[in-house]
Amino acid sequence: MDNIWVVFVSAAIFLSAILYRNLRSRIRSSTYRSPLPLGTLGWPFIGETIDFISSAYSDRPETFMDKRRRMYGKVFKSHIFGSPTIVSTDAEVSRFILQSDAKSFVPSYPKSLTELMGKSSILLINGCLQRRIHGLIGAFFKSPQLKAQITRDMQKYVQESIANWRDDHPIYIQDEAKNIAFKVLVKALISLDPGGEMEFLKKQFQEFMAGLMSLPINVPGSRLYRSLQAKKKIVKLIHKIIQAKRNSGISRVPKDVADVLLNDASEQLTDDIISDNMIDLMIPGEDSVPILMTLAIKYLSDCPTALQQLTEENMKLKRLKDQVGEPLSWHDYLSLPFTQNVITETLRMGNIIIGVMRKAMKDIEIKGYLIPKGWCAFAYFRSVHLDENLYDWPYQFNPWRWQDSDTSDCSFTPFGGGQRLCPGLDLARLEASIFLHHFVTQFRWVAEEDSIVNFPTVRMKKRMPVWVKRRREP
Ligand code: HEM
Repeated sequence: MDNIWVVFVSAAIFLSAILYRNLRSRIRSSTYRSPLPLGTLGWPFIGETIDFISSAYSDRPETFMDKRRRMYGKVFKSHIFGSPTIVSTDAEVSRFILQSDAKSFVPSYPKSLTELMGKSSILLINGCLQRRIHGLIGAFFKSPQLKAQITRDMQKYVQESIANWRDDHPIYIQDEAKNIAFKVLVKALISLDPGGEMEFLKKQFQEFMAGLMSLPINVPGSRLYRSLQAKKKIVKLIHKIIQAKRNSGISRVPKDVADVLLNDASEQLTDDIISDNMIDLMIPGEDSVPILMTLAIKYLSDCPTALQQLTEENMKLKRLKDQVGEPLSWHDYLSLPFTQNVITETLRMGNIIIGVMRKAMKDIEIKGYLIPKGWCAFAYFRSVHLDENLYDWPYQFNPWRWQDSDTSDCSFTPFGGGQRLCPGLDLARLEASIFLHHFVTQFRWVAEEDSIVNFPTVRMKKRMPVWVKRRREP
């Protein structure tokens, strides 16, 4: 058995070496107007992946990029995750990549991720189907009814969580935030209320997520295999919910995202496409949104002046609303300027999504650089967000920097851009604002020492334990 592996691995290395040589000679012999960016493709087959991953695990993941940026410039070539890659740490080049359509670039992610997401996932599809689903979801997420529902649910689940917190006990902010955000999002997607099925879904979903950046080996017992099994159970549950909706006649006024997709007149959207996309949409509920809330608490804990200003702003609104006896609306939360600046700064420093990966569909020249057909283009936002030429003292949490700055600038892209601009950006901000409001107006806290882990996804090493004390003020 061992011998078979030796032969297999040797053959793989030999083949990769030939492919790699062909690739180099193709590039040398080509006559492009723009040259290929400087850089190195590293080792045959593995390229520079090991270097990239080891730096991604450190507390300064951008070191890999910064080192090459100093040597080769803001755009350079490399070879990561099995593909020759042009890495962009240049805001304008990244913007061009984001703005391009499927004739120039299509999404390209590591194999484990594509296998788990499924071929109909919005993160992977192109052309009119992607635009159709994006448009439907985006319009629903912008609707005032959904924002009002999210506000009510978020307030309810935050209050339920908070009710169980006891003074002078540690609370794990990351766990609490995940629990709340997942319930809110699943309710908005398929109208599932908390209970047995929700708990089952959450458990399977965590199992599913654990495989997103695993080795692409699908054999019984492997990480990818277990995640695929979990996905099957999730799909089964979603199909059951879709079927029940079909049987009872889909409501004309959509209650949730599933209704929106089922109501679509184009009839392009099969049950499989709908369930794959429901799973995509659950990811921010388990990952990006709760991490945004957790990081905001982390940065505020380390910056007492920002915490004080945020608390004062939220207390003022709370007293005002208490006086008139009105509940807070989604509009109230989003209109708190300093709270929004805290969220913006958290997005800049936290880099919850470090960048996006695309494959070039043809040779593309941008700003004097060539991205050859078939290569991957990696728009790495993190280096842009932490660039000292764009942001003074970039590693300092400074929400005040946003007082007079514009978040629509191409050097700030936590939600991507172009046709694939995140349709959930308002919801993410709204959920984070509600969480912060209730937390700072009802509690004081002391945070335990904890650090941010950046790979494969951003999270807190110890799940962000804080010791809370209920405020006495009304
Ligand atoms: C802090 C929270 C969030 C961050 C940082 C974030 C970030 C991003 C980024 C960078 C993209 C672009 C991906 C690409 O260009 O390939 C994206 C796309 C997307 N996001 Fe978000 N997101 C967040 C929350 C949400 C929420 C709450 C939802 C809705 C449930 C959502 C749904 C989506 C969808 C459906 C796409 C794919 C759009 C397409 O390809 O057409 N995101 N997000």
